[in-house]
Amino acid sequence: MGLFIKKPLGQLMADTTDDASGLKRTLGAGALVALGIGAIIGAGLFVRTAAAAGGHAGAAVTLSFAIAAFGCALAGLCYAEFASMIPIAGSAYTYSYTTMGEFVAWIIGWDLVLEYALGAATVAIAWSQYLNQLLSDFFHFTIPYQWCHSPFQASAAGVHGIMNIPAVAILLILTLLLIKGTSESAFFNNIIVIVKVSIVLLIIVFGWHYINPANHTPYLIPANAGKIRLNTGQIHDYADALNHGWLGVLRGAGIVFFAFIGFDAVSTAAQDAKNPRRDMPIGILVSLVICTVLYILFSHVLTGLAPYKEFLSQGSEASVSYAINNYMPGFGWLSKLVTVAILAGFSSVILVMLLGQTRVFYTMSKDGLVPSSFSRLHAKFRTPYKSQWMFFIFVSLFAAFVPDNIVGDMTSIGTLFAFVLVCIGIMILRIKSPEVKRPFKTPLYWVVCPLGALVCLCMIAGLGWENWARLFVWLLIGFVIYFGYGIKNSKVRREQREDNNEVT
Ligand code: ALA
Repeated sequence: MGLFIKKPLGQLMADTTDDASGLKRTLGAGALVALGIGAIIGAGLFVRTAAAAGGHAGAAVTLSFAIAAFGCALAGLCYAEFASMIPIAGSAYTYSYTTMGEFVAWIIGWDLVLEYALGAATVAIAWSQYLNQLLSDFFHFTIPYQWCHSPFQASAAGVHGIMNIPAVAILLILTLLLIKGTSESAFFNNIIVIVKVSIVLLIIVFGWHYINPANHTPYLIPANAGKIRLNTGQIHDYADALNHGWLGVLRGAGIVFFAFIGFDAVSTAAQDAKNPRRDMPIGILVSLVICTVLYILFSHVLTGLAPYKEFLSQGSEASVSYAINNYMPGFGWLSKLVTVAILAGFSSVILVMLLGQTRVFYTMSKDGLVPSSFSRLHAKFRTPYKSQWMFFIFVSLFAAFVPDNIVGDMTSIGTLFAFVLVCIGIMILRIKSPEVKRPFKTPLYWVVCPLGALVCLCMIAGLGWENWARLFVWLLIGFVIYFGYGIKNSKVRREQREDNNEVT
């Protein structure tokens, strides 16, 4: 049996209909779109936009959004085809198991931990920033710097972080909610989505009048923009290749790509969906389109309010509140409203990320690639509670001790890598298994698939060698686990061994 042993599509489909011992099916098309938007609009928009504009793209962060959206749209079409064809929990992991074999599936499943678990950590860190903003707005105090920052960060006054306690606290609350059950969390999610979209619209409408055209000129950061000291102590030099001009826009795309992560999380809920074949593509594509329009308008307003350099210095935390408080006189109420809404909005993102993570590991555990405790369901709530606790600990370690830009970029690179493999997977499946029923078909697949992979690869390139190295190390750890555990316990391998024994 080779490394590329495949899970038969028929067996996958049988798993899909095997509901007796599975998860509850509670989500319709509207709930899936809401789940998508719930996962999509979050720290990427409210925190990473400012980081991308401030450090790399300036006002042209709108172009970064356009590039990231283009890559996501192409990958999203591929995801939609996969999700309609193989409506089972597990996302890209599951799809690749039938198309590219177990080893590639393992790589993707392992890689998705970067997307979901570290994505949750990134948003939890952002949540902590806005919690401080809320405490300052309403109660005029803030949590001491050392208890809401990682040890790798220091304030302008020279105070070093120790651990990020609020980030861990929100992870704990949401883990408890998830353990209680998906349908309750979906209800909670729908309300938050309405609040979140309303707040983005309010900022666009009110902020538009305060755009200072000088902040949009020049549109791209010039090479001679100088240097800035960051709160990690490092010096940011705009003369560096990826910090200005078009390469800066590409680097910015890799960063704001984070803002789109989540539409694929819809696909991890396939087993929670009532009618996955019809509703999964709707959930993925509709949520993606709505968010793209909102993002480009929002980033145009944000970079028009404040000079981009301020987003790396005094406005580097809770940047949206910073811009409103300093450049929209009389809108203190909006800043307060935004802070509350953002806190709720981030919670819904973390929720979907944690849900996606445990669902992927649920499937991997059913396949024998990770231990069975990841798929053990709670007797009453029917949720994989053990898995949820284990990921709470894992995600908390990152949220508590690692700076947001590092976990954010690791999330982006991990997800981009998964997207590349999904685009290639759709191409392979079209050629090798043209007969399979596809309720949703990627149009012009011979253009969309390779182009999707290429755009995502360009964004990976833009994220720089430090992030490539982190991805590489993560994958190496994954190889050790696969060859030490997964390959020996794989269910597909075991079944094939048994079949072979029967034959002989
Ligand atoms: N797209 C999600 C966010 O921006 C991960 O927070």
